[in-house]
Amino acid sequence: APSLSIAVLGCGTVGTQVVRLLLEQGEELSARAGTRLELAGIAVRSLETERDPVVPRDLLTTDAESLVERADVVVELMGGTERARDLILRGIEAGASVVTANKALLASQYGELFSRADAAGVDLLFEAAVAGAVPVVRGVRESLAGDRIERVIGIMNGTTNYVLDAMTTAGWDVDAAVTRAQELGYAEADPTADVDGHDAAAKAAILAALAFHTRVDLRDVTREGIRGVTPEDIEAAREAGGVIKLLGIAERVATPQGERVAVQVHPAVLPLEHPLASVRGAFNAVVLEAQAAGRLMFYGAGAGGPETASAVLGDVVAAARHRVTGGRAPAESTHATLAPARPADL
Ligand code: HSE
Repeated sequence: APSLSIAVLGCGTVGTQVVRLLLEQGEELSARAGTRLELAGIAVRSLETERDPVVPRDLLTTDAESLVERADVVVELMGGTERARDLILRGIEAGASVVTANKALLASQYGELFSRADAAGVDLLFEAAVAGAVPVVRGVRESLAGDRIERVIGIMNGTTNYVLDAMTTAGWDVDAAVTRAQELGYAEADPTADVDGHDAAAKAAILAALAFHTRVDLRDVTREGIRGVTPEDIEAAREAGGVIKLLGIAERVATPQGERVAVQVHPAVLPLEHPLASVRGAFNAVVLEAQAAGRLMFYGAGAGGPETASAVLGDVVAAARHRVTGGRAPAESTHATLAPARPADL
């Protein structure tokens, strides 16, 4: 069978692991995909950067544009929004399938990216963008496609879950716990995206769009991070028999304009018996409540190089299979069936 050429854009923590696994397990992955997967190149900003020796130097290039144009599958792991968007659209126009882990890009440009992928008839897959290794995107998009999702509720950011956990068990304040999270490599050097709930808001917006077949603009997400959570709040929650978690919640709500989907990120006190209360450390978990299926819980590593690479490679194999069989992942509704509620309407 003819081979498929894979272009990897970005070679950070996740990119390095994707490259490693593609090289180490290429035969197996190709067998599962039904076609030979060929790593065509790895686009990086600089050829001088020191890298893990598993990354073959002769595959590195700074010319992402031409790499994308000769790829069958573009794997975008560079982060950022503008250049990532341009390269993804260039790939789509050239007929490539796209796999991305870029939650910020998806959450801000969901509509355009999907319209373009739909028009070109190619896959746009993003399991790694929400909750790392945890297969919740496919769960919502495919496994529950025959059901009616009522509510999505989850711990969608590992850094803040670690921070709240450390505040609860070690009695630290938020700054001390964030510093520790940085030392452990969970939080970014600038932890704003985690601490202020932007990262969780992007993930909640993506899951809400999929679960309710609509488009959710980040501005429609009511967002409060954990900066204001004090050791006194933690103690008060404990006395009440609960624990504070940063939750992402998307649900159907009645508003004066009719039924809408409300998307919120905020700290909340959960009773200890709630399934999300036992999610410790930097893990993620999402509970889906569906009409027929009832309550389902997805749990696991929400970040990390190999963990996130697992989700990326699952999408690479899925995209390759679709190209082999001529199928593709379902088109996303480009018309909303349920509009997002404006925060002011709630
Ligand atoms: N910084 C994120 C987290 C991981 O802490 O969950 C990537 O989304």
